[in-house]
Amino acid sequence: MAKKSLKAGIFITFEGPEGCGKSTHSAMLCEYLKSRGYDCVHTREPGGTSLGEKIRELLLHSDGIKISDISELFLFEAARSQIVVEVIMPALEAGKIVICDRFSDATFSYQGYGGKVPLEVIRALDRVSTKGLKPRLTILLDVDTITGLSRAKRKGSDRMEKKDVTYHRRVRSGYLDLARRYHGRIKVIKAGGTIQKTQAMVRREVDRVI
Ligand code: TMP
Repeated sequence: MAKKSLKAGIFITFEGPEGCGKSTHSAMLCEYLKSRGYDCVHTREPGGTSLGEKIRELLLHSDGIKISDISELFLFEAARSQIVVEVIMPALEAGKIVICDRFSDATFSYQGYGGKVPLEVIRALDRVSTKGLKPRLTILLDVDTITGLSRAKRKGSDRMEKKDVTYHRRVRSGYLDLARRYHGRIKVIKAGGTIQKTQAMVRREVDRVI
Protein backbone atom coordinates (compact mmCIF):
# COMPACT_ATOMS: atom_id res chain seq x y z
CA MET A 1 0.00 0.00 0.00
CA ALA A 2 1.29 3.50 -0.84
CA LYS A 3 2.24 5.39 2.32
CA LYS A 4 -0.07 8.24 3.29
CA SER A 5 2.00 11.36 3.75
CA LEU A 6 1.22 13.97 6.35
CA LYS A 7 2.23 17.62 5.92
CA ALA A 8 3.68 17.56 9.40
CA GLY A 9 4.34 14.57 11.61
CA ILE A 10 2.19 13.81 14.62
CA PHE A 11 3.64 13.03 18.03
CA ILE A 12 1.52 10.78 20.25
CA THR A 13 2.55 9.53 23.69
CA PHE A 14 1.23 6.81 25.97
CA GLU A 15 1.39 7.22 29.72
CA GLY A 16 0.06 5.61 32.86
CA PRO A 17 0.94 4.00 36.17
CA GLU A 18 2.69 0.61 36.33
CA GLY A 19 0.74 -2.24 34.75
CA CYS A 20 -1.64 -0.01 32.77
CA GLY A 21 -1.04 -1.89 29.49
CA LYS A 22 0.44 1.00 27.52
CA SER A 23 3.02 -1.09 25.64
CA THR A 24 0.30 -3.46 24.38
CA HIS A 25 -1.98 -0.61 23.32
CA SER A 26 0.70 1.55 21.72
CA ALA A 27 1.94 -1.44 19.67
CA MET A 28 -1.64 -2.26 18.59
CA LEU A 29 -2.21 1.36 17.63
CA CYS A 30 0.95 1.46 15.55
CA GLU A 31 -0.10 -1.69 13.65
CA TYR A 32 -3.55 -0.17 13.07
CA LEU A 33 -2.05 3.04 11.68
CA LYS A 34 0.34 1.10 9.44
CA SER A 35 -2.60 -0.95 8.13
CA ARG A 36 -4.23 2.35 7.17
CA GLY A 37 -1.11 3.33 5.20
CA TYR A 38 0.53 5.69 7.70
CA ASP A 39 4.26 5.68 8.28
CA CYS A 40 4.49 5.06 11.99
CA VAL A 41 7.49 4.92 14.32
CA HIS A 42 7.01 3.18 17.66
CA THR A 43 9.55 3.86 20.38
CA ARG A 44 9.89 4.04 24.15
CA GLU A 45 11.37 5.98 27.01
CA PRO A 46 13.75 5.56 28.62
CA GLY A 47 15.29 3.86 25.60
CA GLY A 48 14.75 4.05 21.85
CA THR A 49 18.43 4.85 21.12
CA SER A 50 21.67 3.00 21.96
CA LEU A 51 22.44 5.53 24.67
CA GLY A 52 18.87 5.51 25.96
CA GLU A 53 18.79 1.71 26.25
CA LYS A 54 22.03 1.77 28.28
CA ILE A 55 20.55 4.45 30.55
CA ARG A 56 17.36 2.35 30.86
CA GLU A 57 19.42 -0.61 32.04
CA LEU A 58 21.08 1.60 34.67
CA LEU A 59 17.81 3.11 35.85
CA LEU A 60 15.75 -0.08 36.00
CA HIS A 61 18.22 -2.89 36.67
CA SER A 62 21.13 -1.44 38.62
CA ASP A 63 21.00 -3.54 41.77
CA GLY A 64 23.43 -2.25 44.37
CA ILE A 65 24.18 1.09 42.64
CA LYS A 66 22.99 4.14 44.58
CA ILE A 67 21.04 6.66 42.45
CA SER A 68 19.94 9.89 44.15
CA ASP A 69 16.61 11.53 43.21
CA ILE A 70 18.36 14.24 41.23
CA SER A 71 20.73 11.79 39.50
CA GLU A 72 17.65 9.78 38.54
CA LEU A 73 16.04 12.89 37.07
CA PHE A 74 19.17 13.74 35.05
CA LEU A 75 19.39 10.19 33.70
CA PHE A 76 15.77 10.17 32.48
CA GLU A 77 16.30 13.61 30.92
CA ALA A 78 19.58 12.54 29.29
CA ALA A 79 17.82 9.60 27.63
CA ARG A 80 15.05 11.99 26.50
CA SER A 81 17.44 14.52 25.04
CA GLN A 82 19.02 11.76 22.91
CA ILE A 83 15.75 10.27 21.63
CA VAL A 84 14.39 13.72 20.75
CA VAL A 85 17.33 14.60 18.47
CA GLU A 86 18.11 11.11 17.18
CA VAL A 87 14.64 9.63 16.61
CA ILE A 88 11.60 11.80 17.30
CA MET A 89 12.42 15.10 15.61
CA PRO A 90 13.81 13.55 12.39
CA ALA A 91 10.72 11.31 12.09
CA LEU A 92 8.34 14.21 12.65
CA GLU A 93 10.22 16.31 10.11
CA ALA A 94 9.78 13.44 7.61
CA GLY A 95 6.00 13.60 8.18
CA LYS A 96 5.73 10.37 10.19
CA ILE A 97 3.52 9.53 13.13
CA VAL A 98 5.66 8.94 16.20
CA ILE A 99 4.22 6.88 19.05
CA CYS A 100 6.30 6.94 22.20
CA ASP A 101 5.71 4.94 25.38
CA ARG A 102 6.23 7.63 28.03
CA PHE A 103 7.68 11.12 27.70
CA SER A 104 7.80 14.28 29.84
CA ASP A 105 4.55 13.56 31.73
CA ALA A 106 6.25 10.48 33.21
CA THR A 107 9.01 12.63 34.69
CA PHE A 108 6.52 15.05 36.24
CA SER A 109 4.46 12.16 37.64
CA TYR A 110 7.26 9.86 38.84
CA GLN A 111 10.17 12.15 39.80
CA GLY A 112 7.91 15.13 40.60
CA TYR A 113 4.72 13.91 42.27
CA GLY A 114 6.20 10.51 43.24
CA GLY A 115 9.75 11.50 44.16
CA LYS A 116 8.93 15.06 45.30
CA VAL A 117 11.53 16.79 43.11
CA PRO A 118 10.19 20.37 42.70
CA LEU A 119 8.15 20.63 39.51
CA GLU A 120 9.89 23.87 38.48
CA VAL A 121 13.26 22.03 38.49
CA ILE A 122 11.81 19.35 36.21
CA ARG A 123 10.17 21.96 33.99
CA ALA A 124 13.48 23.79 33.46
CA LEU A 125 15.47 20.65 32.69
CA ASP A 126 12.78 19.10 30.54
CA ARG A 127 12.52 22.21 28.37
CA VAL A 128 16.21 21.79 27.53
CA SER A 129 16.06 18.06 26.75
CA THR A 130 12.84 18.26 24.67
CA LYS A 131 13.78 21.54 22.93
CA GLY A 132 10.21 22.52 23.75
CA LEU A 133 8.66 19.55 21.89
CA LYS A 134 5.25 18.53 23.24
CA PRO A 135 2.99 15.66 22.19
CA ARG A 136 -0.05 16.49 20.06
CA LEU A 137 -1.98 13.82 21.98
CA THR A 138 -1.28 11.87 25.14
CA ILE A 139 -3.24 8.74 25.98
CA LEU A 140 -3.26 8.24 29.73
CA LEU A 141 -4.27 4.66 30.54
CA ASP A 142 -5.47 4.78 34.09
CA VAL A 143 -5.43 1.79 36.42
CA ASP A 144 -5.87 1.41 40.16
CA THR A 145 -2.43 1.38 41.88
CA ILE A 146 -2.67 -2.05 43.51
CA THR A 147 -4.16 -3.76 40.45
CA GLY A 148 -1.51 -2.21 38.18
CA LEU A 149 1.43 -2.98 40.46
CA SER A 150 0.44 -6.61 40.93
CA ARG A 151 0.00 -6.96 37.16
CA ALA A 152 3.45 -5.42 36.54
CA LYS A 153 5.14 -7.51 39.22
CA ARG A 154 4.09 -10.77 37.56
CA LYS A 155 7.01 -10.19 35.17
CA GLY A 156 9.40 -9.49 38.10
CA SER A 157 9.99 -6.05 39.63
CA ASP A 158 12.43 -3.46 38.32
CA ARG A 159 13.98 -0.65 40.39
CA MET A 160 11.02 1.73 39.84
CA GLU A 161 8.37 -0.91 40.53
CA LYS A 162 10.11 -1.72 43.84
CA LYS A 163 9.36 1.79 45.18
CA ASP A 164 6.64 1.67 47.84
CA VAL A 165 2.91 1.78 47.23
CA THR A 166 2.55 5.35 48.54
CA TYR A 167 5.09 6.49 45.92
CA HIS A 168 3.02 4.79 43.19
CA ARG A 169 -0.21 6.29 44.56
CA ARG A 170 1.36 9.75 44.23
CA VAL A 171 2.44 8.90 40.67
CA ARG A 172 -1.13 7.97 39.72
CA SER A 173 -2.66 11.08 41.26
CA GLY A 174 0.09 13.12 39.59
CA TYR A 175 -0.94 11.77 36.21
CA LEU A 176 -4.61 12.53 36.92
CA ASP A 177 -3.68 16.02 38.05
CA LEU A 178 -1.75 16.64 34.80
CA ALA A 179 -4.75 15.33 32.84
CA ARG A 180 -7.01 17.89 34.56
CA ARG A 181 -4.53 20.68 33.83
CA TYR A 182 -3.90 19.73 30.20
CA HIS A 183 -7.29 18.26 29.32
CA GLY A 184 -6.98 19.34 25.68
CA ARG A 185 -3.92 17.16 25.16
CA ILE A 186 -4.16 14.35 27.75
CA LYS A 187 -7.08 11.94 27.31
CA VAL A 188 -7.75 9.57 30.20
CA ILE A 189 -8.92 6.08 29.29
CA LYS A 190 -9.82 3.58 32.02
CA ALA A 191 -7.73 0.47 31.42
CA GLY A 192 -10.10 -1.90 33.25
CA GLY A 193 -12.14 -3.33 30.34
CA THR A 194 -11.16 -5.81 27.63
CA ILE A 195 -8.14 -5.08 25.42
CA GLN A 196 -10.48 -4.67 22.42
CA LYS A 197 -12.72 -2.11 24.16
CA THR A 198 -9.77 -0.12 25.46
CA GLN A 199 -8.08 -0.18 22.04
CA ALA A 200 -11.30 1.04 20.40
CA MET A 201 -11.29 4.05 22.76
CA VAL A 202 -7.60 4.69 22.00
CA ARG A 203 -8.28 4.64 18.23
CA ARG A 204 -11.24 6.99 18.61
CA GLU A 205 -8.98 9.58 20.26
CA VAL A 206 -6.23 9.12 17.68
CA ASP A 207 -8.63 9.31 14.71
CA ARG A 208 -9.62 12.78 15.93
CA VAL A 209 -6.08 14.14 15.49
CA ILE A 210 -4.95 12.55 12.22
P1 TMP B 1 8.19 0.94 31.45
O1 TMP B 1 8.83 0.93 30.11
O2 TMP B 1 7.78 -0.41 31.90
O3 TMP B 1 7.12 1.94 31.57
O4 TMP B 1 9.35 1.32 32.47
C1 TMP B 1 9.85 2.59 32.58
C2 TMP B 1 9.92 2.96 34.03
O5 TMP B 1 10.58 4.20 34.19
C3 TMP B 1 8.54 3.11 34.68
O6 TMP B 1 8.62 2.67 36.01
C4 TMP B 1 8.34 4.62 34.67
C5 TMP B 1 9.74 5.15 34.86
N1 TMP B 1 9.98 6.49 34.31
C6 TMP B 1 10.22 7.53 35.17
O7 TMP B 1 10.24 7.33 36.40
N2 TMP B 1 10.46 8.76 34.66
C7 TMP B 1 10.48 9.01 33.32
O8 TMP B 1 10.72 10.15 32.90
C8 TMP B 1 10.23 7.92 32.42
C9 TMP B 1 10.25 8.14 30.95
C10 TMP B 1 9.98 6.68 32.95
